[in-house]
Amino acid sequence: MASLSLVNVCKTYKNGFEAVKDVNLDIRDKEFLILVGPSGCGKSTTLRMIAGLEDISSGQLWIDGQLVNMLEPKNRDLSMVFQNYALYPHMTVYQNMAFGLKVRKTPKEEIDRRVRQAAKILDIAHLLDRKPHALSGGQKQRVAIGSVIVREPKAYLMDEPLSNLDAKLRSQMRVELSKLHRELGATVIYVTHDQVEAMTLGTRIVVMRSGKIQQAAAPGDLYLNPVNKFVAGFIGSPAMNFLPAWVERRDERVCLEFGSSRLYVNRMCASRLIEGGYLGRRVYLGIRPEDFHETGPGENALPLEVEIKEMLGAEQLLYGNCGRNELCVRTKPDFKAEPGSTVTVFVDMDRIKLFDMETEENISFHRGVSPMK
Ligand SMILES: Nc1ncnc2c1ncn2[C@@H]1O[C@H](COP(=O)(O)OP(=O)(O)OP(=O)(O)O)[C@@H](O)[C@H]1O
Ligand SMILES: [Mg+2]
Repeated sequence: MASLSLVNVCKTYKNGFEAVKDVNLDIRDKEFLILVGPSGCGKSTTLRMIAGLEDISSGQLWIDGQLVNMLEPKNRDLSMVFQNYALYPHMTVYQNMAFGLKVRKTPKEEIDRRVRQAAKILDIAHLLDRKPHALSGGQKQRVAIGSVIVREPKAYLMDEPLSNLDAKLRSQMRVELSKLHRELGATVIYVTHDQVEAMTLGTRIVVMRSGKIQQAAAPGDLYLNPVNKFVAGFIGSPAMNFLPAWVERRDERVCLEFGSSRLYVNRMCASRLIEGGYLGRRVYLGIRPEDFHETGPGENALPLEVEIKEMLGAEQLLYGNCGRNELCVRTKPDFKAEPGSTVTVFVDMDRIKLFDMETEENISFHRGVSPMK
């Protein structure tokens, strides 16, 4: 397996569009690296440059200490599953999966062993004699993944490999991919839109926006210490609530005011706000739906006019308004809150995030932990 390094990598397409801007990233051996970000932010372009399917406009790509910018895709020893996978229509599932090994002149018995093992993992052992036209979309996708995992390349590149699967198969495959990663000790670079996939599979997550890396960190760090409002809003589901609030000093304490509500910040946030010169200015207050409580000290209370209640079984999501701000609050399923009524919820003030209005940077890092870039 391998380590990869992207140094100042940029991609400008022929029409002049800059899809990837100055990406710097060290991918360690055996790492399961996730690329996430909104549609069009440059995830596939980055992966395709690593695979060699797209030229790198400027910058360097190193694999195991070797500069590979000019190396043909087939000589990079990487294995890729595409967003739009393709199978050879005239070959059976078995032949499709064996193809990559056959062209590399792998011994027959070895091919057979690996294809059957992969088929078992992917639950397609009973389909090995079928041709692609006789498979469902999800089955085709698993065959495509199978033809990639039978190989033992330097790294696996996967572009939304589970996007065509239904929810149940998706979560099964997620577990299988995780096991596979552990068993093979493989380096994986994986693109997804899916929050749960990113948080559960990734040893590290890279959040991209408009061709630029916003933050690269372990899932837990990204959740607790997002560097800016974009990352904070992107990671976590339902998304973090953002309320514009005035920073004021009242009763010798620092508080956040919006509409007729007031919340006192803890001492760490207070000193951050004072040192940063935020007194008398506006900031974004970020509160995750799960960072509300059903009881708490009165000074942490907010009124919520409930509009919609979503009962999810183990929990309940309340959507409504607090003054002029929209809020989403996660509660226990037995919390009484009928649409049309106003309830009181309590903010966990040790978990709030604060963001600068102009730069949108996080100005409230959690318990003194510094962000990992
Ligand atoms: N051949 C091309 N020529 C010009 N622009 C392109 C080309 N291919 C992609 N782009 C543009 O580059 C940007 C990044 O595309 P890319 O496919 O990398 O996005 P993505 O992050 O994978 O999005 P998605 O989540 O929708 O798959 C997009 O704005 C896209 O329209
Ligand atoms: Mg894509």
